[in-house]
Amino acid sequence: MKLEGQHHRTLYLRDDGTLRLLDQRALPFRVAWVDTRAPEETAAAIREMVVRGAGAIGAAAAAGAAQAAFCARESAFAEDLAAGVAAIRAARPTARNLFYGVDVVLAAIEAAGPHPAQARAAALDAARWVADDDAASCAAIGEHGSALVQDGASVHTHCNAGWLAFVDWGSALAPIYAAHRDGRRVHVWVDETRPRSQGAKLTAFELGQAGVAHDILPDGASGLWMRQGRSQLVIVGADRIAANGDVANKVGTYLLALAAAAHGVPFYVAAPTSTLDGATPDGDGIPIEERAADEVLFAEGVDADGAPATVRTAAHGSGARNPAFDITPAALVRGIITERGVIPARADAIARVLRPTSAGGA
Ligand code: MRU
Repeated sequence: MKLEGQHHRTLYLRDDGTLRLLDQRALPFRVAWVDTRAPEETAAAIREMVVRGAGAIGAAAAAGAAQAAFCARESAFAEDLAAGVAAIRAARPTARNLFYGVDVVLAAIEAAGPHPAQARAAALDAARWVADDDAASCAAIGEHGSALVQDGASVHTHCNAGWLAFVDWGSALAPIYAAHRDGRRVHVWVDETRPRSQGAKLTAFELGQAGVAHDILPDGASGLWMRQGRSQLVIVGADRIAANGDVANKVGTYLLALAAAAHGVPFYVAAPTSTLDGATPDGDGIPIEERAADEVLFAEGVDADGAPATVRTAAHGSGARNPAFDITPAALVRGIITERGVIPARADAIARVLRPTSAGGA
């Protein structure tokens, strides 16, 4: 997608294992890039949300696993590889794509045999495959989902599940980009998404870069907006989808789904099949990350001169809790828009499109 008029992906993996990441913490105020060379550095970039969003995390994690092979000493290859991979796995718990990306690279290393040089080459290829596959899957999600976006529609979304959350295109925003490209008039209601404001900062930024009409809404406005008939369709992303179709996504998604159900607004989830978790029976088994209280107690932005600023927005002495995700029950989901088509949020349909964890797999 376009960043200041030029096509970009959110990350690039070089031949020497260096990973270049678009620094999402600086957006929308500044475009900056961060390089990582070791798995521990990539794990820190994931934890600190330099790179965030399920697909981008998955591709970064795959690159981090490849870095673990690059950094491993020949004399202790297996041990060093395992330690680097463990650091990546521990970075964030909820997005299924993180574990998928690591597993794809490990499968390629195992298939390459015992020689470190071959293992490194295979790991690099597999990590690049994960990134390319993510971009291609999101492009296909756009084509399958765009039929849902009628001319003149206002689509409601939460958090950022656009191209910044993936390698390219995005999941929830891909159908919108495809409809916009095809000349349909589309407007997006962008939930602000406190506490980190991924909607206000990232979704609004990338829609603006693409020329798609949009307005930012406070998170609590969705009930009123749906009651007044202002949202015709909801499309959100997913960090993990359990075997029964329950969806983990940014906290606030469940309330949006309840509001949509109460007012008869169709609620869709867009996700590549790499987000599906066939091993977790339902949403209760999905680990929900709890992040630092300071993300709730403070807000980050820029001051009148454009300098980065952090301000306290809560009473002194109050504590806070910060669950980063919630679970939307499958019963509230009209369909899951995948690269294989729109499927029902049901165990049998999900089982049919689950991926084998291997590079080049379906
Ligand atoms: O905590 P984040 O910013 O990594 O949140 C993940 C997300 O981007 C959202 O939950 C998104 O809607 C789904 S991931 C494409």
